[in-house]
Amino acid sequence: MAIKNHPNVTILDHPLLKHKITKLRDKTTKTNEFKSLVREVSILEGYEALKHLKTTLEEIETPLEKSMEPVVDRKSLCFVPILRAGLGMVEGMLELVPGCTCGHIGLYRDEVTKEPVEYYCKLPSDISEKNVYLLDPMLATGGSAIDAVRILKEHGAKRITFISIIAAPEGVEAFCKAYPDIPLVIGALDRCLDERAYICPGLGDCGDRIFGTTKGTTS
Ligand code: PRP
Ligand code: URA
Repeated sequence: MAIKNHPNVTILDHPLLKHKITKLRDKTTKTNEFKSLVREVSILEGYEALKHLKTTLEEIETPLEKSMEPVVDRKSLCFVPILRAGLGMVEGMLELVPGCTCGHIGLYRDEVTKEPVEYYCKLPSDISEKNVYLLDPMLATGGSAIDAVRILKEHGAKRITFISIIAAPEGVEAFCKAYPDIPLVIGALDRCLDERAYICPGLGDCGDRIFGTTKGTTS
């Protein structure tokens, strides 16, 4: 099945989102602006990804009268960034739902094998009761996202959505094959991976660009 037609894959299509992702791709965009753009893109993507959230009615009082109005139960949600680059997305998500619980999964890609290596995991003990939003800006081979979902499931997570900014077709296919029932929300679907498993055209190393760990990228 073509990726674009996969029932669980949503490729967002909004001019503002596209504009901001273009600025992320631009190699002249320095750390400060890059970090802000990741935050802004996360807000736009999060807004879409959270549109299925259930609301309950709560009594409030307007200046005119009492009224039952819809509210989101933030305790039912959990954001889980994959370190490092996923950290850049949390701030934006927390602007949408302030005070929401966050877990953290630390993975890095081995430079030679491209396989993810786990180095950290801290998740809420009641994760099985939450709607979990896994965050990582880059879906390249799919190895990290697939491993992160395995870790979430091992800790009991039942309802998971993965939000990513730029994805390669190879990663989307691998993810959908591993977890055909987990919704995947992405900002852009790129052309392919290169021989180092970097996304093309992509934006380079997202963690390095967020945290300024490449020489000459800070502003
Ligand atoms: C990047 C990115 C993803 C992973 C994607 O992290 O943030 O976690 O690569 O690649 P994959 O789909 O092939 O697994 P990286 O390993 O560079 O670690 P970092 O965030 O600490 O820089
Ligand atoms: N990780 C990144 O940060 N960028 C890529 O293109 C692939 C993996």
